[in-house]
Amino acid sequence: MGEEQDVTGAGRLWGGRFTSGPDAAAWALGVSTGFDRHLWRQDLAGSRAHTHELHRIGVLTADERDGLLAALDRCGGLFAADAFPFLPTDEDVHGAIERWLVEELGSLGGKLRAGRSRNDQIASDLRLWCRDACDDLVGLVGELQQAFVAQAEAHLGWHAPGYTHLQRGQPVLLSHHLLAYVWMLDRDAGRLRDARARLDESTLASGALAGQTLGLDPQAYADHLGFARVAPNSMDAVASRDFALEVLAACAILAVTLSRLGEEIVLWATSEFAFARVGDAFSTGSSIMPQKRNPDIAELVRGKAGRVIGDLVALLTTVKALPLTYDRDLQEDKEPVFDAVGTLRLVLPAITGTVASLTFDRERLAAASVGGFALATDLAEELVTRGVPFREAHEVVGEVVKLAESRGVDLDGLDPDELASLHPALDTEVAARFDPQQAIDRRDGVNGTATASVRAQLGRARAAAAANRTVGAGPVVAGDDAHP
Ligand code: ARG
Repeated sequence: MGEEQDVTGAGRLWGGRFTSGPDAAAWALGVSTGFDRHLWRQDLAGSRAHTHELHRIGVLTADERDGLLAALDRCGGLFAADAFPFLPTDEDVHGAIERWLVEELGSLGGKLRAGRSRNDQIASDLRLWCRDACDDLVGLVGELQQAFVAQAEAHLGWHAPGYTHLQRGQPVLLSHHLLAYVWMLDRDAGRLRDARARLDESTLASGALAGQTLGLDPQAYADHLGFARVAPNSMDAVASRDFALEVLAACAILAVTLSRLGEEIVLWATSEFAFARVGDAFSTGSSIMPQKRNPDIAELVRGKAGRVIGDLVALLTTVKALPLTYDRDLQEDKEPVFDAVGTLRLVLPAITGTVASLTFDRERLAAASVGGFALATDLAEELVTRGVPFREAHEVVGEVVKLAESRGVDLDGLDPDELASLHPALDTEVAARFDPQQAIDRRDGVNGTATASVRAQLGRARAAAAANRTVGAGPVVAGDDAHP
């Protein structure tokens, strides 16, 4: 504290109007190369587009343009080899690259800054990064959906208890439960796709905030960088981070979906439930209890949700009440985005492998699916088909359950005469209502758990997974190397 950092000389992007360099503590707070270096690909892509535009408007000769493009390629080679020579005097990745270009090319390197600002550069860089990140995450979600589709397909016909309040409610097909995740994940992928479509705007040629005077064409940047359109207002372009908030919100909701999955796997793997066993490759032992087989991966997936939610809240809080346009607070936009996306890049393949590794216990699931008077609703609905008002049927079946409970049996263990004594409609044919397979197959709406319905649903789920997987396999325009 109190000491001056020596940041005078060729390395700085600014300083002409200052007589001394910044305080060391001030410098340390402002330096962002530790994290914004992950934007090198996007920054170089923007600089290439800018080089072409500067040539088009006559600021660069063809030779100068080619010299700059070649140097930008060499610069990219250094970054790709993790050999870019950052200096302590580099404030951010934009400044570092310009400093390096000046070292390489002399005064030509200094020509690239004409007509642009780090404000429009960073707005562009982060949008490019988010665009690829969204595609990547959508693809990873598609892989997880596919793991569910495969499990649902392999277990078609298996019974499982369906829960509300974590109390057994009604029997379902295990596949119906598994496919529920495919649709939850499909909306998560949809949110990422929506965010990506909305952020697909070029911000270069916004200058610091008001646009630029040199005749640069904003549309040319959009064309070079493959943006769908130009941001219509330069002030909005440099000031807004709602695009990053949207990506973070989509990440946070996805992380919450995954936390519910993680929790269910943890429950299923307990000896109390014992519905499923997690594969060895996704289980861990205990350092002290030799018998332990812990679902650590599912627990970590559940736990990571807190972190991703934190990333969203952090950036929401930073952007709240910021006056237009660019404020330095916005430098805080990058780390939460990198962290949330990086976390999900770790989490998604791990949980996909965990789901694929699950082996289910058919007998445990089947026994639980009929336990707890799970067919009581079916019995009440049977009475309804015999003209009993549902209100009355609900009451009568409640009494049937009370009687069975007092006898220590399930519904099918009751004496037919005793049943008939509770209500005239409870004749011997209602016994047909005690079959879980029938209970399942009667729910044959397009959204239901009937075998035929679930088989049809499986086809739609497979198509949804395939569509998202294709996005992930798509070409990465600008690329990135951020894996925090
Ligand atoms: N490192 C800065 C950021 O990430 C780049 C923009 C700096 N602009 C400025 N006027 N200081 O936000």
